[in-house]
Amino acid sequence: MLLEQRLRSRRGVRIVERPSGPFGVQLIPTRRVTAPEVRHALTRVPPTDRAVVTSALTPSESGPFLENGFVERERLHLLRHDLSPASDVRDAGASIRRGRRSDLPAVLDIDAASFDSFWRLDAAGIAGARRATPRHRYGVATTDGVVTGYSIVGRADTVAFLQRLAVHPDQRRMGTARELVEDGLSWARQHECRYMLVNTQVSNRGAFDFYEAVGFRAEPHQLTVYEWPT
Ligand SMILES: CC(C)(COP(=O)(O)OP(=O)(O)OC[C@H]1O[C@@H](n2cnc3c(N)ncnc32)[C@H](O)[C@@H]1OP(=O)(O)O)[C@@H](O)C(=O)NCCC(=O)NCCS
Repeated sequence: MLLEQRLRSRRGVRIVERPSGPFGVQLIPTRRVTAPEVRHALTRVPPTDRAVVTSALTPSESGPFLENGFVERERLHLLRHDLSPASDVRDAGASIRRGRRSDLPAVLDIDAASFDSFWRLDAAGIAGARRATPRHRYGVATTDGVVTGYSIVGRADTVAFLQRLAVHPDQRRMGTARELVEDGLSWARQHECRYMLVNTQVSNRGAFDFYEAVGFRAEPHQLTVYEWPT
């Protein structure tokens, strides 16, 4: 789930229609909202035959959605990296460069092989992940000219967000993701970010272990994505 930049707005809940994928509409609180504000937002939700879900919410943001009948859909760990340099970066043999338009088919294949249908991104989803913050770095790992992994790291003010990371299943445990993350961390350092955040499903044990191995530490609270039972 993308870490959205929380822009302040008079309307407390931003409603985003998703053109494809398993969820049709996403509700994103842009500030602390009340249960009546959520109820009012629900009257503005366009008709959809797909799920209506929230963005990943902290425990303190969840109450007004629970009061309106939302139910838990996914539980996520939130992890944070303080941007301190790694001591043991090994050369994985992959090269990291900026992603290009022509990389999209390979990136979509890697994404489809890496995520289940709820989390998988299509071309619009990749574009959305790149637009989720004012600035971003789209990194692609290649081995012998073939795209083997990709990452999207965003930043807003002085906080960096690891929005997306995937390595082709045939190329895992070779250090490719570590190199992609290092590339994002050094970009965040260059732009004087204070820390980087990432979230990952509680059920994704491999990703959690990976993030700990590259220096992220779990925050004390988890995030939850809620679904509105229609
Ligand atoms: C998570 C993911 C990106 C890791 O990619 P990778 O290129 O295999 O990771 P690396 O080879 O750089 O791993 C570095 C270290 O992280 C840890 N690690 C990586 N994958 C792990 C796993 N599945 N289980 C336990 N530890 C793991 C190990 O300590 C590893 O070092 P080692 O191989 O020397 O033991 C990859 O498994 C993937 O694409 N998964 C599906 C998509 C996904 O879950 N993305 C993140 C979701 S937010």
